[in-house]
Amino acid sequence: MNSPIENSTFDIDHRFTRQSGLSTGPVPLEPYHSEEFYQAEKEQVFKRAWLVIGRVEDIPEPGDFMRRDVTIAGVSVLVTRTKGGEIRAFHNTCSHRGTEVVMAREGKASRFVCPYHNWTYRNDGSLMGVPDEKAFFGVDKSKCGLEPIAVATWEGYIFINLQKVPEVTLEEFLGPLADYLAGVAYTFPDNAFVVRADVGANWKIVSDAFLESYHIPAIHPETIGATFSSNENPFARLLDAKLLGQHAHVSMYGNPNFELQEKHKIDRVAQKLEGAGSVISANKLDDMQQFLSHPVVNPTKTSGWSMDSVHIFPHTHINWGPGGFWLHQFWPLAVDKTRHEARFFMAKPMTMRQRLQQELYVARVLEVIAEDLCNMERTQRGVSAGAKQFMQLQDNEIAIRRSIDNVMRWASAGTVKEALAA
Ligand code: FES
Repeated sequence: MNSPIENSTFDIDHRFTRQSGLSTGPVPLEPYHSEEFYQAEKEQVFKRAWLVIGRVEDIPEPGDFMRRDVTIAGVSVLVTRTKGGEIRAFHNTCSHRGTEVVMAREGKASRFVCPYHNWTYRNDGSLMGVPDEKAFFGVDKSKCGLEPIAVATWEGYIFINLQKVPEVTLEEFLGPLADYLAGVAYTFPDNAFVVRADVGANWKIVSDAFLESYHIPAIHPETIGATFSSNENPFARLLDAKLLGQHAHVSMYGNPNFELQEKHKIDRVAQKLEGAGSVISANKLDDMQQFLSHPVVNPTKTSGWSMDSVHIFPHTHINWGPGGFWLHQFWPLAVDKTRHEARFFMAKPMTMRQRLQQELYVARVLEVIAEDLCNMERTQRGVSAGAKQFMQLQDNEIAIRRSIDNVMRWASAGTVKEALAA
């Protein structure tokens, strides 16, 4: 049973940052607009860190595949499920003259045929067929398969590592996060509503916006402002924050007295009748019990809770609230351009009412994300103007402080082990 919030919860004691050992000083803005720093991120962060590329439910059956582009690294990645059920990852590059073999974003195929001259590969990456093979000078097919990429899974998440031989294992990279999140019962992972947008802002500006709730009363007054703040907590201070190696978990306040107003007639009907997990939710509270009972979900176990955000360094957030979980990913396209992908996981609707509830949820989510995206481009313009060298971060923005601290350390660290030694 969740407890009410203590009055002292929102005292200004700067506890999160002070306990973390991080600095409390101003933070440089240069990494958010410098082309030189972006190049360092490419080589030192995205080509060395383990990166979440998807979930196992994206390729559930033998023969399933997905292609994902890690644009900052200039790499197209093909992830497959082999006949034996194994997950493999490859560079999507033909061994003949280098053309990208697979163009589809996802699908099912037991073999891949390069469109240029029809070289054919099995979905375990091995080279199967070379048209007019006799005209070549002894092609050793066993050495001309697709180039493998290191791949590993954890709790249903598929990670890749673009180092030829990763310097650290996925377990070492995850550090304390691996045990911390073990056993979270992610709800409806095989049914995602996907939102994808290219935003004119650095990937860290986009990521940072989803790591704090300080902005919510200001940026989202008409949509979610009143659900994340109240007279008791007008600035939406955090309930909890933990740093877990390179990664971080913040738990956000939710106004326990929030009620939909008279004017929200349709929302009221849908939420009440379906027993939703929260006013912004696509799933029924009844379906969420196992998920919600995990110790790290709503870690303070308070009734005044809205959502948690777990930052898996560098570019993925796992989020959850009373109504289920969702993912944000931030793929850098250029120093000032990012592909933002959000996946909201929800039950397949069984009734018209449930469908209505989900449609309302999706509409609300799109509204909120649009509010965020507009602000990000405004922030990028301000940052790129160069008038300010530093930003000021308060205690409830600790996950941003952690993230930028990580990026700067990785950008200059000679080895991954050195980068991980935070
Ligand atoms: Fe792929 Fe020629 S480049 S078959």
